[in-house]
Amino acid sequence: MNKTFPNGFLWGGATAANQFEGAYNEGSKGLSTADVMTAGSHDVPREITDGIVKERYYPSHVAVDHYHHFEEDIELFGELGFKCYRMSINWTRIFPQGDEEQANEEGLRFYDEIFEACKKHGIEPLVTLSHFETPMGLLKYGSWTNRKVVNFYLRYCETVFNRYKGKVKYWISFNEINVMSTKPWMAGGVNSDDEQVRMTAAFHQFLASAKAVQMAHRIDPDNKVGMMYAGHFSYPNSPDPEDVQANDDFMHKMLFYCDVQCRGYYPDYKLKEFERVGIVLPFKEGDKEELLRGKVDFLSYSYYLTHVVGKETSLAMKGLNGVKTGYNNPYLPTTEWGWAINPMGLRHSLNVLYDRYQIPLMIVENGIGAVDHVEEDGTVHDVYRIDYLREHIKEMKKAIDLDGVPVMGYTMWSPIDIISASTGEMKKRYGLIYVDINDQGEGTFKRIRKDSFYWYKKVILSNGEHLE
Ligand code: BG6
Repeated sequence: MNKTFPNGFLWGGATAANQFEGAYNEGSKGLSTADVMTAGSHDVPREITDGIVKERYYPSHVAVDHYHHFEEDIELFGELGFKCYRMSINWTRIFPQGDEEQANEEGLRFYDEIFEACKKHGIEPLVTLSHFETPMGLLKYGSWTNRKVVNFYLRYCETVFNRYKGKVKYWISFNEINVMSTKPWMAGGVNSDDEQVRMTAAFHQFLASAKAVQMAHRIDPDNKVGMMYAGHFSYPNSPDPEDVQANDDFMHKMLFYCDVQCRGYYPDYKLKEFERVGIVLPFKEGDKEELLRGKVDFLSYSYYLTHVVGKETSLAMKGLNGVKTGYNNPYLPTTEWGWAINPMGLRHSLNVLYDRYQIPLMIVENGIGAVDHVEEDGTVHDVYRIDYLREHIKEMKKAIDLDGVPVMGYTMWSPIDIISASTGEMKKRYGLIYVDINDQGEGTFKRIRKDSFYWYKKVILSNGEHLE
């Protein structure tokens, strides 16, 4: 029988420091943009407060306390048979304010230990350099709207590329870079609806990423640096050409981020739009060449859902922070949080991206947020999670087998329950491992293997052949 997945396929799971580590003020860590976000819910958005307000609850402060449980957690990832673990380094552990000359040794030592633990369990780390964790200390510069921040970011990159040389070879420059168009605070400490502001910040992130790619290659030719796209994919609401055009426009709004990072230049449709609406990019001499030289080595993305877009969408999106297109897909079930479950869409997305860029792809987030119940005997029967992951992996297999798409790996979100980024809730759980805490951060922090844990372990052990 033909085997789909090559030896060395990067099976694993993904987390982010601000949602996982806690210990927000330990180890001389500074405040990040995540640390001033309160908890919300499906209906109530998270609030960004002016500094830390005593009476408010901030989920990132304790999260699931990975900082003090990392050995146990990585051992569990080892037991799952992970080949790869995608995680983020929290920038504010390394440069607490973001603009220091010297790195914080305590922070560097923490990640030394993490990578040591990964090595012990034969796990290849894949490190996101910036996952919704911009230092609050950079806000006085205007955060990413200021070109100076590019250099602060590069100082941080240089520090970790050198420190972890030989220990980490896979990097992602920015998590879900296109979130600058939907949730700019998360993407980079930008709190503005003004498109000029957002596009200036995005420009600086593109430049920073392009320079980081080149720096990573210089420091260690084995380094591979990818971009990371928040997987927004959509279908037109109907064959009405106006719906189809609205859908094309929506996809351009999102995909132009991949165009810049994979092709090394802004696409014409975006430049024309900027011209029309009067947006000016702060290009300086040599920047064009930097973008071109700093094309990414691979394209990674998150895939959770698909959208439906139609002629009313631009109206519906106006003023909204997250992506709400105003349409539902009647053919698809949704999660408890209203996200449309679409395994076939995963195959489609792999084809869209490979047709467009012809570079290796990696799924670095995919999973279902659901409320789990712990039975009296301590088990968690999360069959819905197994179903979700199985059906998506099957479609990934088809993209590889039938369409020839080169997929480097698959890191599901998230191997262990962590704080939800969009709502700040704990009860929106993604894990194969349950963590006993509630939405107020109370509990024993005990880790419990769910049914999906044993299932995914077999998937990895069989290199994706055993899915039932
Ligand atoms: C992605 C982010 O958008 O989706 C993660 O990179 C996030 O940080 C994940 O946790 C799932 O979304 P949520 O809001 O359900 O946690």
